[in-house]
Amino acid sequence: MSKALEGVKILDMTHVQSGPTCTQLLAWFGADVIKVERPGVGDATRGQLQDIPDVDSLYFTMLNHNKRGMTLNTKSDSGKEIFEKLIKHCDVLVENFAPGAMDRMGFSWERIQELNPRMIYASIKGFGPGKYEDCKVYENVAQCTGGSASTTGMIGDVPLVTGAQIGDSGTGLHLALGIVTALFHRTHSGVGQRVECAMQDGVLNLCRVKLRDQQRLDHGPLTEYPQYPNGEFGEAAPRAGNASGGGQPGWIVKCKGWETDPDAYIYVIAQAAAFAGLAKEIGHEDWLEDPEWNTPKARLPKLETMFAEIEKWTMTKTKFDVMDTLNPLNVPCGPILSMKELAAEPSLRETGTVVEVDHPERGKYLSIGNPIKLSASPSDVKRSPLLGEHTDEVLRELGLDDSAIATVREAGAV
Ligand code: COA
Repeated sequence: MSKALEGVKILDMTHVQSGPTCTQLLAWFGADVIKVERPGVGDATRGQLQDIPDVDSLYFTMLNHNKRGMTLNTKSDSGKEIFEKLIKHCDVLVENFAPGAMDRMGFSWERIQELNPRMIYASIKGFGPGKYEDCKVYENVAQCTGGSASTTGMIGDVPLVTGAQIGDSGTGLHLALGIVTALFHRTHSGVGQRVECAMQDGVLNLCRVKLRDQQRLDHGPLTEYPQYPNGEFGEAAPRAGNASGGGQPGWIVKCKGWETDPDAYIYVIAQAAAFAGLAKEIGHEDWLEDPEWNTPKARLPKLETMFAEIEKWTMTKTKFDVMDTLNPLNVPCGPILSMKELAAEPSLRETGTVVEVDHPERGKYLSIGNPIKLSASPSDVKRSPLLGEHTDEVLRELGLDDSAIATVREAGAV
């Protein structure tokens, strides 16, 4: 079976998390991704959070599958020459350096277009054009500046960042879509284009419903928020604890074992259509005849009481028992699954979403495979490259013979 992006060559100048997430996805879809790293140094994440001394970290290996790796000093004279060949050889250049780094190397968008008018040049930066455009940005900065932190957390408590890497991996996903869109455009226009994603914009896009709520606030209280009707609303869309954010009330409730197991909880959504079954199951058939309880509107001011009653019932069962009981009643719910539980989940192993990968230096480890499943071009997960593992191989493809390779090696360019 051929891969969807077979034949597409990606010049991967990415590092840390946001850019590598994007190029890893393209590699899973079959693109030939050539990761370029500084000789002797490499992507900083190779050495960050190392669990085994002197072995590429899980941080690096889990973000750089299916890529080839070469070293190149793009600031040296012979390194620049090779870089120019790479620009002519590839279809897409992806980078997430600090603002201006590519220009300082001597490779502006204008220069890249001169070298290869079909090149798609894709970048991630922390901010778009404006006051903060020159700032360096990491995940949590993006979560804070993109509206996620101000709308996450318990009511009246400090803003919270989330465990999901929406700033880094989220923006990498956005960029990958921009790249394949530009590749499609190139099939009929014949020309490349610039693709840019700012992490602030990517996070804000994922917080779309909160900007919705900001505008709704001008027309009255947000009735599905726990602040209604007993609490206060300020001027900005507030934090709402674990409220569902949609039109259906939801909350996280304790399950059997919560006293010792930090993940013995389940999310329950008291959807109107399934309310009768839920009320009967938890022993509150009385709510169904009671006008104080039997309409969504009547329940709104009493959601705290309602979830406390639901919790009395869930605390008598494990989160999996609750799931098994409520799902046949069409009550949407989801157990809080720990990373330990997810790593062991057989269905995720079967679909290739959780995979075991073998690495020559670290041995076997678990990773997350491609979550996007294509029927005609499934992804297989191959280990990340060692630093400079494919340098000679790529240089030969660029037309350098053994003596030319030896010369650039002696010059410290690779
Ligand atoms: N050859 C020669 N020089 C190289 C090189 C290579 N192969 N690869 C990188 N470099 C140089 C860069 O040109 C840059 O040099 P300069 O400062 O003289 O321009 C230098 O290495 C460092 O790059 P930089 O991107 O500034 O790294 P950093 O560690 O200081 O900053 C970030 C890291 C992530 C904060 C920054 O890259 C950034 O803000 N990126 C955009 C937003 C982003 O993606 N953030 C999320 C990361 S998960």
